[in-house]
Amino acid sequence: MFSSSRAVRVVVSFLSLSVSLPYTLASPAQGNINRRASVCNGHAELCNRSFGNVTFVGAHDSYAVGINSIAANQDYNITQQLNDGIRMLQMQAHNLSGVIQLCHTTCGLYNGGPLSTYLGTVKTWLDANPNEVLSLLIVNSDDFPPTAYDSIFKSVGLDTMSYAPTSAVTPATQWPTLGSLIDSGKRLLTFMDASADFTSVPYIIDEFTNIWESPYDVFTLPFDCSVNRTKGDSSTEMYLINHFFDQLILGQPAPDPDQANQTNAVNGTGSLGAQVATCVADYGRNPNFMLVDFYEYGGGSVFQVAATANNVTYNPSTPIAAPIPQGVNTSPGSGSSPGSQSTGDGSVMLPAVWIMLATVLFGTYCVLL
Ligand SMILES: *[C@@H]1O[C@H](CO)[C@@H](O)[C@H](O)[C@H]1NC(C)=O
Ligand SMILES: *[C@@H]1O[C@H](CO)[C@@H](O)[C@H](O)[C@H]1NC(C)=O
Ligand SMILES: *[C@@H]1O[C@H](CO)[C@@H](O)[C@H](O)[C@H]1NC(C)=O
Ligand SMILES: *[C@@H]1O[C@H](CO)[C@@H](O)[C@H](O)[C@H]1NC(C)=O
Ligand SMILES: *[C@@H]1O[C@H](CO)[C@@H](O)[C@H](O)[C@H]1NC(C)=O
Ligand SMILES: *[C@@H]1O[C@H](CO)[C@@H](O)[C@H](O)[C@H]1NC(C)=O
Ligand SMILES: *[C@@H]1O[C@H](CO)[C@@H](O)[C@H](O)[C@H]1NC(C)=O
Ligand SMILES: *[C@@H]1O[C@H](CO)[C@@H](O)[C@H](O)[C@H]1NC(C)=O
Repeated sequence: MFSSSRAVRVVVSFLSLSVSLPYTLASPAQGNINRRASVCNGHAELCNRSFGNVTFVGAHDSYAVGINSIAANQDYNITQQLNDGIRMLQMQAHNLSGVIQLCHTTCGLYNGGPLSTYLGTVKTWLDANPNEVLSLLIVNSDDFPPTAYDSIFKSVGLDTMSYAPTSAVTPATQWPTLGSLIDSGKRLLTFMDASADFTSVPYIIDEFTNIWESPYDVFTLPFDCSVNRTKGDSSTEMYLINHFFDQLILGQPAPDPDQANQTNAVNGTGSLGAQVATCVADYGRNPNFMLVDFYEYGGGSVFQVAATANNVTYNPSTPIAAPIPQGVNTSPGSGSSPGSQSTGDGSVMLPAVWIMLATVLFGTYCVLL
């Protein structure tokens, strides 16, 4: 048994070397063979790199998908986001009658469906992409205990794919390599902003003792790299930059797709590339996570910035999705009637004007992160 799987491994490695097909090992059919990953997150160079020494692009409010809505931060669903190269999915979890639901500020304003459905999609994608390491960042808005998340992870089979660190706090230099995460099958890393408890559910990792964040709700350029939120030692933690530019709509912060091409660009005023350069000048190391809105604006520029930071060649295997112009009442896979829009996940997007009115009503206590 050992020698035959070893033989397969040797032959497969030989084939992939000799005909340079690095994706040979990435097919789901090979998933059960105990082998050493030779391509990690699309690049051989990343296999030997510590997780804490890699720059990943993250989708801010990844579940908040839709157009013509000030409560939407993305145009495309998470399967498309992942296919295009997003490797951190950020989300806000809320309590809707006892169910953990992904909503934006309130479930009345935007309801992205239950966490269990969302995680089922994540599981399907991870199964189909066995050489990928993925992170989740959960904003635990209503302070569910980690055991409530554990139940949902178990129900969709993500508990056994989740990496549990050896201690509650892991400095950036001490994380395992991407290759070892992939080889162990534990290639999902879940961070949570509040109520994580290493002693109860060790794979739900406390965000702020392991990651610090730059400011969010940015209305004026340039983006800075100051330490805005942390509960740990920012000199040794990984760090995340919030690179989304907001506009004020009726007094509330809202994402601004009109600016997204420039915000996501590799260089220029207010660009992602410019913020990374600022951070490197400040700290001598690249950000670990870069959260963006409307990630596909810029035509892949956000992934180009990450590739440059990772010292690898940006060479996407398929073109990334095209931006969906605002003011158009159609989206892929939805035959919606004018005035309302299905997001494909059970919720219905209202026209912008109604969302704005709703925002005014909620205005005294809404903060759209
Ligand atoms: C991987 O890193 C280890 C040290 O961390 C080093 O000994 C080894 O040669 C590296 N392997 C490759 C293929 O770079
Ligand atoms: C969630 O809301 C329900 C009421 O809808 C409440 O009974 C329950 O205690 C809440 N859970 C948490 C963790 O706050
Ligand atoms: C963090 O940023 C927010 C705005 O995004 C600001 O109100 C707050 O003062 C900042 N806190 C620190 C400690 O820098
Ligand atoms: C963003 O760039 C794309 C591709 O260059 C272009 O089609 C689109 O009009 C731009 N959007 C905005 C709002 O500038
Ligand atoms: C900015 O990025 C664009 C697109 O990649 C590139 O063509 C241009 O040369 C860059 N400009 C500078 C000053 O680096
Ligand atoms: C990874 O390490 C290299 C070499 O020290 C450094 O230049 C780079 O900024 C690091 N990247 C991250 C995300 O820590
Ligand atoms: C970037 O990668 C090249 C090989 O492609 C290597 O020679 C160089 O040392 C790397 N630079 C850094 C800063 O790691
Ligand atoms: C996600 O979006 C893609 C198009 O980008 C579509 O083909 C797919 O059906 C969508 N998946 C779901 C579950 O809606």
